[in-house]
Amino acid sequence: MTKRLEGTVALVTGASSGIGEATAVALAEEGAMVALVARRRDRLEALAERIGGAGTALVIEADITDQAQAERAVATTVSELGRLDTLVNNAGVMLLGPIVGAPIEEWQRMVNLNVLGLLYCTHAALPHLLTAAEAEPRSVADIVNVSSTAGRVARLNSGVYNATKHGVGAFSESLRQEVTARHVRVSLVEPGATATELASHNRPEVLETMRTRFAGIERMQAEDIADAILYIVTRPRHVAVNEMLIRPTEQEG
Ligand SMILES: NC(=O)c1ccc[n+]([C@@H]2O[C@H](COP(=O)([O-])OP(=O)(O)OC[C@H]3O[C@@H](n4cnc5c(N)ncnc54)[C@H](OP(=O)(O)O)[C@@H]3O)[C@@H](O)[C@H]2O)c1
Repeated sequence: MTKRLEGTVALVTGASSGIGEATAVALAEEGAMVALVARRRDRLEALAERIGGAGTALVIEADITDQAQAERAVATTVSELGRLDTLVNNAGVMLLGPIVGAPIEEWQRMVNLNVLGLLYCTHAALPHLLTAAEAEPRSVADIVNVSSTAGRVARLNSGVYNATKHGVGAFSESLRQEVTARHVRVSLVEPGATATELASHNRPEVLETMRTRFAGIERMQAEDIADAILYIVTRPRHVAVNEMLIRPTEQEG
């Protein structure tokens, strides 16, 4: 049976762990050739080896907070794999804690990656996505932006992370209106608590507060979110999933 993404190329940012890694595997299993983008080359190479048996994976070491590196990641994907049909803007960082006295450097890391990195990749990818949307095999292309429940609801101790993810939501809806008639679909995915490395970059005192908040909740797995992204990008051409909010069943807020 023909796989649903056969003959297409996807670029996944933040593919070296968590949701990005699981998404790259899911897209490759459905027949897509996948460009794996992140900073940890060793992790990307191990993933490419895993995918390699069944499909094609291209390792691209890049820090996408650097505009030139983000542009190079997109250009390398197109020159090596021939086209670009799907961009999954997944790379992100979540550094929580009170606003008063916060280390400004943490804010800069979040804005630089969650907002600017996503914008750089999108800007570079759009011409290629618009071209792919006019071509076989699908005549449609996809941008999936990974936001968060934090992009829907603002919470204490999450101010700047909230700001970045609300920003992603606003940008996604504006871009959707701009390109949807040209068959580039823009989708926003908003996961709740998912078991990945994401929280581990926080300061110890912040980690302690987070442990209390999610104590006893069965978190989602990265594969649960990858499954949602796969669903989004395998819809028929006339169906666009604009937004998907996914929480662990036991997560109330
Ligand atoms: N886990 C959750 O509970 C949850 C909930 C809601 C939303 N999300 C969102 O899901 C997305 C993925 O996070 P995750 O949970 O899978 O966490 P994760 O395992 O920490 O993955 C983050 C990814 O981003 C990459 N990355 C970090 N800085 C980068 C940079 N400058 N350039 C390129 N890549 C960079 C990391 O790779 P390198 O370090 O190798 O560069 C890693 O692959 C994020 O946008 C996050 O906000 C997660």
